[in-house]
Amino acid sequence: MEQNTPTEPILKLDKVSFQYSNHYQSVEAVREASAEFFEGKMYAIIGKSGSGKSTLLSLIAGLALPTDGQVLYRGVPTDAVDLDKYRRENVAVVYQSFNLFPLMTCLENVCFPMELLGKSPKNAAVTAREYIAHVNLPDSVHKRFPNMISGGEKQRVAIARALASGAKVILADEPTGNLDIANGEKIVQLLRDLAHEDNYTVIVVTHDLGITTVADEVMQMSDGYLKPLLLDELPVLDAFTVSEQD
Ligand SMILES: Nc1ncnc2c1ncn2[C@@H]1O[C@H](COP(=O)(O)OP(=O)(O)O)[C@@H](O)[C@H]1O
Ligand SMILES: [Mg+2]
Repeated sequence: MEQNTPTEPILKLDKVSFQYSNHYQSVEAVREASAEFFEGKMYAIIGKSGSGKSTLLSLIAGLALPTDGQVLYRGVPTDAVDLDKYRRENVAVVYQSFNLFPLMTCLENVCFPMELLGKSPKNAAVTAREYIAHVNLPDSVHKRFPNMISGGEKQRVAIARALASGAKVILADEPTGNLDIANGEKIVQLLRDLAHEDNYTVIVVTHDLGITTVADEVMQMSDGYLKPLLLDELPVLDAFTVSEQD
């Protein structure tokens, strides 16, 4: 049987909980979060600092396993797969502080995940140039080091590197947090284009409410709880302060 629209989510959270524990205390950072994420869509997860957004993202990214519940990628729970492989191939993370390798040129940064996957340096460079062009950067960045380009350009290189991993799920943790408003908007636009035009699944966590008008679906995290937000609920979010820092 042929299917035109995907009915199966690429990612599913099934009552996911996560607890940080040490000798003195335990923090319930994520509480029974359930959600489905489909290909070709951009999702925004908003919430105040400390609400559990980064923890949830790290569970989706396979950086940790839930203490309860399951994160399922194409129906398979992350506790049943080789997590190193999952992280290398299925999900890519983009961070607020870009996390580019400072001693590699921009081109080498984008080549890196492909070489990790066994591609020859020559082939990796050819493909890296394509990804760099795809995120609307000029060829002149190829030979520059990250400290020689602007914040907005760094985030584009980081996104190109994420695409180079071949992952179909792009996770972005406060991707506009270090950018001015105009550059932040352009990065959000780029992420949305990647979802709508190239069929990536993009999940952006942020306390920046600007994204709510651009995302296909908005969810809110509050004290570890995740819930969908309807458009007519959005105005109440003015209560958020956008100047919070993580
Ligand atoms: N490594 C850690 N050890 C203990 N508690 C943590 C750790 N990381 C985060 N937390 C706590 O978990 C909760 C959620 O944090 P986080 O996921 O970083 O929220 P957000 O990204 O929304 O700011 C907070 O109470 C935070 O203090
Ligand atoms: Mg965070």
